[in-house]
Amino acid sequence: MKNILLTLCAFSVLLTACKTETKPKTDETKRGLIASKAMVVSARVEASKIGKQILQQGGNAFDAMVATELALAVAYPFAGNIGGGGFMVYRKNDGEIGALDYREKAPMAASKNMYLDSIGNVIPKKSTEGALAVGVPGTVAGMFAVHKKMGSLPIETIMAPVIKLANKGVVVTKKQEKRIKHYQDVFKTVNKDSMLFMANWKQNDTIKYTALAKTLTTIMQNGRDGFYKGENAKVLVNFLQANGGIITEEDLANYEAKWRTPVTFNYDDLKIISMSPPSSGGICLSQIMTMIEPYDLHKYGHNSLKSIQVITEAERRAYADRSFYLGDPDFVSVPRKELTSTTYLKNRMSSFSFDKATLSSDMSHGNVEIIESDETTHYSIIDQFGNSISATTTLNGGFGSKLFCSELGFFLNNEMDDFSSKPGVPNMFGLVGAEANSIAPQKRMLSSMTPTIIEKNGKLLMSVGTPGGSTIITSVLQTILNVHEYNMTMQQAVDAPRFHHQWLPDEVRMEPHSFDKTLVEQLKEKGYNINEKNSPVIGKVDGILVLDNGTLEGGADRRGDDTAIGF
Ligand code: GLY
Repeated sequence: MKNILLTLCAFSVLLTACKTETKPKTDETKRGLIASKAMVVSARVEASKIGKQILQQGGNAFDAMVATELALAVAYPFAGNIGGGGFMVYRKNDGEIGALDYREKAPMAASKNMYLDSIGNVIPKKSTEGALAVGVPGTVAGMFAVHKKMGSLPIETIMAPVIKLANKGVVVTKKQEKRIKHYQDVFKTVNKDSMLFMANWKQNDTIKYTALAKTLTTIMQNGRDGFYKGENAKVLVNFLQANGGIITEEDLANYEAKWRTPVTFNYDDLKIISMSPPSSGGICLSQIMTMIEPYDLHKYGHNSLKSIQVITEAERRAYADRSFYLGDPDFVSVPRKELTSTTYLKNRMSSFSFDKATLSSDMSHGNVEIIESDETTHYSIIDQFGNSISATTTLNGGFGSKLFCSELGFFLNNEMDDFSSKPGVPNMFGLVGAEANSIAPQKRMLSSMTPTIIEKNGKLLMSVGTPGGSTIITSVLQTILNVHEYNMTMQQAVDAPRFHHQWLPDEVRMEPHSFDKTLVEQLKEKGYNINEKNSPVIGKVDGILVLDNGTLEGGADRRGDDTAIGF
């Protein structure tokens, strides 16, 4: 037995060595920002700056996380939030790993068919716009859970710059101007009264968030109770109920963030640490990477016909499983071990051939679908002590339910749409859900958020993640492969064009004007349906790579206003 194991080990070392030999050389001129000690990469420069400031004041990655997350709620209200939720994966400098689930929950008065009409059809917009779409927010509980367990600076030190930013205001970027304009009609429909974002905001204007600053001050003074109990909770519940919502003061008071065990698996010589249910991210990523591991992706080449085929087919199979088996582990039994077993996944790929696309109609869950919005946000932090976090946070849709509580100064999520309102019927992003993700009081809705940390040879290598709804998992996957298989720099890896398949609809979504026409024709000839129209952007990845000499390289996605800052 020992001999067999030794031979297997030698074989895998040889395989890794062969892979390394044939990989392209890294283009060192294409590196992103380099920092020697610590780094924050997020969707807005203001948030990255505040995170860095906290690190420079001696705070650790967890202190900086609280500051960055709350600063995103101010500077990036499109997805940053205190009215939503998220997930975080961490790795401490001693190798300890863990994960925090601060996902929203269904209110106690929620019910399985709450979005269906009398004949059982899904009522359009009921789970996406307005107060009934709102899940009980988890962000504030999440931040206080992190701070209590692993923070090192006083909460006043961490929150002071965030509150200052809210009072001082944030400059509107070109991209933000476009986003606000795009949603203004819906803001008018959903909100009874005029609100902050209905004004004609233009690039370079400064938006002041005075009400949010006041709310954050109460939270700073009273801890999580400043949000979930007392005056702010009363104001929020009255506001939601006046707008037809069902969240009660009891729902808020009962909300708890939960520490979870992350999903871990190996790919070549990497150890991947990613988010566990109620996010599908870690399990799906593990399934896809295990299915593609035996193939010579580095030899096929980046975004080559063969690479795209292998990755697409693995994605198709993983997403088919996702739709059937995954849901809140506190409510349904998720066959985590079985779904990620090598034997099962090898078998899953046995129907794959380079000759022809598999049809999704011929492919169901292995005797084991879903879309969320692409308007989430991700940030990565590595501190000067060697601790790292990877966190993804969301309101679900852009500006969530579009319902804005003017008195408290923030948007409420529309995360209830991440449940399957009716098993078998796609949600607003085309993902089809099953019973495992049906609505129940106090249940957490399934997510695709995939905050991920990677180790190589027992050392920290990367912190990475992205928004992008159902495309989150496949964007994180491609970024890891870009660095590991194709030796790209972190910045190149996040900027490279991406594609996506999610079982249903049976199509490969590709970023427009990014893929060679001949390649697209070749894929069509093999039977792939190509959609280059629906996803002008696939993911907006932020990541940090630890280089061989111990310095850090930031990858801030060119697709957004994302910024890496370090020292
Ligand atoms: N609402 C996006 C996600 O949870 O995946």
